[in-house]
Amino acid sequence: MAEQMIYIDGKLLPKSEAHVSVFDHGFLYGDGVFEGIRAYNSVIFKLDEHLERLYASAKTLMLEVPLTRDQMREAIISTLKANGLRDAYIRLIVTRGVGDLGLDPRKCPKSSVIIIAGTISLMAKETVERGIKTLITWVRRDPIDGTSHEVKSMNYLNSILAKIEANNFGVDEAIFLNHQGYVCEGTAENVFIVKRGRLITPPTYTGALAGITQQAVIEVASRAGIPVEVRPMSASEVFNADEVFFTGTAAEIIPVTMVNGRTIGDGKPGKTTLKLRGMFMEYALDPSNGTRY
Ligand SMILES: Cc1ncc(COP(=O)(O)O)c(C=O)c1O
Repeated sequence: MAEQMIYIDGKLLPKSEAHVSVFDHGFLYGDGVFEGIRAYNSVIFKLDEHLERLYASAKTLMLEVPLTRDQMREAIISTLKANGLRDAYIRLIVTRGVGDLGLDPRKCPKSSVIIIAGTISLMAKETVERGIKTLITWVRRDPIDGTSHEVKSMNYLNSILAKIEANNFGVDEAIFLNHQGYVCEGTAENVFIVKRGRLITPPTYTGALAGITQQAVIEVASRAGIPVEVRPMSASEVFNADEVFFTGTAAEIIPVTMVNGRTIGDGKPGKTTLKLRGMFMEYALDPSNGTRY
């Protein structure tokens, strides 16, 4: 099999030769931004929305993206083509670039763009079909006046701490509360509950990322006449929900059947969740919701 080709600053290099400097501030300080994007059947799902979020994250960090959006689109497409991928998970990274050992970004004259196109499977298919167990972690989501997860930055320690907690307690995923005690999101997913036929999901100002899958699910649900509320919610509302599920580019839609030992609904993936999963996959496969290559 041909070696995977990685895009680094305008060049496509075989994986074995695709290296970045140990002085890159992305490596030294987590100083950079990224996106995880999927392509289904030669259509990049919601590419414009991902680019919008990437450039917004970069603006907050005052990180200059060295490519225009059109150039970025072309770079992503050339990476997919170089790897002969019709279905893919794309990791798009913009790092601060090479600097010295101090953290001052002014010492990094040129940011770097890296694109990795491959595949991803977060959890075994059977786990997803059975539903996953989760816990609400002791780790609070980074606050919105700090390293907020409204910015999709390369610093995921907050999520990694929570993931370690989930691993230690033998569950599949963690759910964050924010500093006010409201439910925020998963480690790399947004969270929804279903209660009496209504969908509820926390807004960005709780500290969650503005999820592109979350938005797509809101759209799909609204079209199907399912009422959606975007508002903060409590842990108790999650424990007592009829259904709970996660959304994310890598996750797509994952049913949650247990939270901190409380069984959700009847302990099986819920009807609304499964219906939404079907509708979301149809939506993701509709070429009008993405960019063809
Ligand atoms: C912290 C966080 N929240 C939510 C999401 C889900 O966002 P999206 O649906 O845009 O992939 C992600 C995934 O990238 C994430 O990292």
